[in-house]
Amino acid sequence: MGTDSLLTPLSEMQREVVRLARDFAAAEILPHAERWDREAYFEPSIIRRLGALGFLGMLIPERYDGMGLDAVTYLLALEEIAAADASTAVLMSVHNSLPTQMILRWGSDEQRERWLRPMARGELLGAFALSEPEAGSDASALACQAVRDGSDWVLTGTKAWVTNGNTAGVIVAMARTDEPGERRGAKGISAFIVTPDLPGFRVGKKEDKLGLRSSPTVQLAFDELRLPGDRLLGAEGRGFIYAMQSLDHGRLGIAAQATGIARAALEHATAYAAERRQFGEPIREFQAIQFKLADMATRVASARALLHAAAAAKDRGEAVTPFSSMAKLQASETAMWVTTQAVQVFGGYGYVKEYPVERLFRDAKVTEIYEGTSEVQRIVIARSLYA
Ligand code: CAA
Repeated sequence: MGTDSLLTPLSEMQREVVRLARDFAAAEILPHAERWDREAYFEPSIIRRLGALGFLGMLIPERYDGMGLDAVTYLLALEEIAAADASTAVLMSVHNSLPTQMILRWGSDEQRERWLRPMARGELLGAFALSEPEAGSDASALACQAVRDGSDWVLTGTKAWVTNGNTAGVIVAMARTDEPGERRGAKGISAFIVTPDLPGFRVGKKEDKLGLRSSPTVQLAFDELRLPGDRLLGAEGRGFIYAMQSLDHGRLGIAAQATGIARAALEHATAYAAERRQFGEPIREFQAIQFKLADMATRVASARALLHAAAAAKDRGEAVTPFSSMAKLQASETAMWVTTQAVQVFGGYGYVKEYPVERLFRDAKVTEIYEGTSEVQRIVIARSLYA
């Protein structure tokens, strides 16, 4: 079942981007994904290769060397990459949806000129540092402190769960700029452009994860990290709002990643059910398996349809906060459910590393956790009902 079987017909350009992503994933990612996962190995050349394809500047305008694409096209490409390797997909999703978009939307002309071109070309990978060890779902409780010193800012604190944190050349980090004695909640947070070359920047613990093992996730320690004044992004005190608005986009990326994982699991299960024989016939002949595959296919199509409806609304310039949360919630729970069914279709072979559904099952779980847990998405959706 093709990606576009339910979507409004794709344009020739969208088909071309999907083909490019699918061919790249088949040739350069899929053959290595199992080993990268097993060894928790991050292949650094993937950044340059994605950059050469234009896949690290998909939403950046052409004047900054990006592809200037719409969200729907970007998410179609992301699904293709995720179906091959969810770890590579999260690298791409975070970079395209969060730091580059924050600099594009709220950066000064000088900041855009300086950072967007190398980010679009894949010379600088981006990361997003919001969470802290004690501030996850309650993101506005973050404690990392930025203090003015002359025209500089001095940052002290620890960031947690930073995707691309040890490979990024640019990290958009949120820190408090309110006074410790006069906390202003979400309004006391600002966004900064941090680079790893600065004294006081240190990569901390690398997480040993259940899934997404070839995507490094690290802590970052800022120890009186001195930033020049031009590293403040946008207005002081607006950093939390910027982060939330960016996560509205980021969550669509995670929904595309989850859809890709679910679709890959469906494809593997469908092929296996046609091959695997028990009781004298292929197991696809049994209704127990047919119904499972039918439900899996229905959920994948629903997740993709909601995702693309939300992305199309974003492309029309509409506010998508609850729809982005719905798309992420639906796609991530679909990924977890569909990969669980795929393991069941494979039986014992689904439980071992020799077959790919075991990796997909592990990779699916985090989509229900990062960029806002399923519970946080439900909070956002429920609040919108009373807004
Ligand atoms: N767009 C614009 N503004 C928004 C907004 C949005 N989507 N969401 C919130 N705001 C604004 C609110 O309007 C409010 O502003 P005013 O005071 O002016 O009205 C301000 O932000 C504070 O909002 P809330 O009062 O709603 O904040 P809250 O403390 O109740 O938190 C929350 C709400 C939804 C739980 C939020 O904290 C949240 O989304 N938490 C999850 C954080 C998250 O997703 N973290 C993922 C980190 S990235 C990652 O996963 C790692 C990776 O690299 C992949």
